[in-house]
Amino acid sequence: MSYQPPTPTIARDGDSAIILDQTRLPYRSCTLRLATLEAVATAIRSMQVRGAPLIGATAAFGVAIALNENADDAHLAQTLDTLAATRPTAVNLHWALARMRERLLPLDPSMRHEAAWAEAEAIRRSDFETCTAIGQHGVALLQRIATQRDGPVRVMTHCNAGALATLGPGTALAPIYEAQRRGIPVKVWVSETRPRNQGLLTAWELRQAGVRHALIADNAAGILIARGEVDLVITGADRVAANGDSANKVGTYLKALAAKDNGVPFYIAAPLSTVDFSCPDGAHIPIEDRGADEVCTITGENETGEVVSLRLAPAGTDAPNPAFDVTPARLITGILTEFGICAPSELSKLAPESA
Ligand code: MRU
Repeated sequence: MSYQPPTPTIARDGDSAIILDQTRLPYRSCTLRLATLEAVATAIRSMQVRGAPLIGATAAFGVAIALNENADDAHLAQTLDTLAATRPTAVNLHWALARMRERLLPLDPSMRHEAAWAEAEAIRRSDFETCTAIGQHGVALLQRIATQRDGPVRVMTHCNAGALATLGPGTALAPIYEAQRRGIPVKVWVSETRPRNQGLLTAWELRQAGVRHALIADNAAGILIARGEVDLVITGADRVAANGDSANKVGTYLKALAAKDNGVPFYIAAPLSTVDFSCPDGAHIPIEDRGADEVCTITGENETGEVVSLRLAPAGTDAPNPAFDVTPARLITGILTEFGICAPSELSKLAPESA
């Protein structure tokens, strides 16, 4: 059994959902009850839940919650629109909402409430299986390196694409957990991922899982790669275009460039629900712009254990904050999905119509 957080990232409780509030991590482990559509939309928008697969599943739970009281066509449509508008880049959100619409719209409104909960649960269960399969396929990459060198396999990742971002053992971290389970020694380079510091969440879960890791400043990635201290880079993705261009947390592109320049393989790990076959290339992926405050402030724990936010730059400082960037397919060695590893140019073989 690979790593799971002490509290599930999301679970049903009656007609509500309980989430692990990720804005409090890694300093506090707190849960939050989501009982209304507005609470679910706020949780996604404010990143109380985050990570592409978890955002999708949370939206599905949000549909079920919204239909608790009213499941007519107009309310269903309004619910889907509200949730679709929460965050633009992670396509899993739209994938999950399309799946909910397809399942619920043909039903009589009186049947929709329970059907929505059942479908949300099905999405939760299938994400666990998908992440597990990504781990099973991806571990071969680490296994191969382990046979070629002494010492741990040194994997660099970015952001958090682990159990906290999914409903299973993660995407980019799933092969690492599987390697740990099989006794393959691993060391993970974790970049802090400013401005929201999702790398701290990665370090938090790797620590709990007993996986050796080191936290680095984002800007240290290049020198570590150039010095030969990284065997491969694996990151998640929020949307993969049909040609393999992949949007992930801002900073991913720079790692891919450094990896290419130094002959280090760079993999994207993502479920097929993250592949947007209707999007031809990275130029068509919508990139979320977030507030300047995320750049101008920092949150941490002070010496007395209080969680505090500090201002780094004066309020009003011009601080553009694109939350994602696009790594072109030419920099990507392979895309790791629940169906195995393929070159970006082979992605089209996985498109539903040719499956
Ligand atoms: O803004 P976030 O924290 O939702 O962004 C998350 C990422 O970019 C992850 O790396 C990505 O969603 C992959 S999740 C398995």
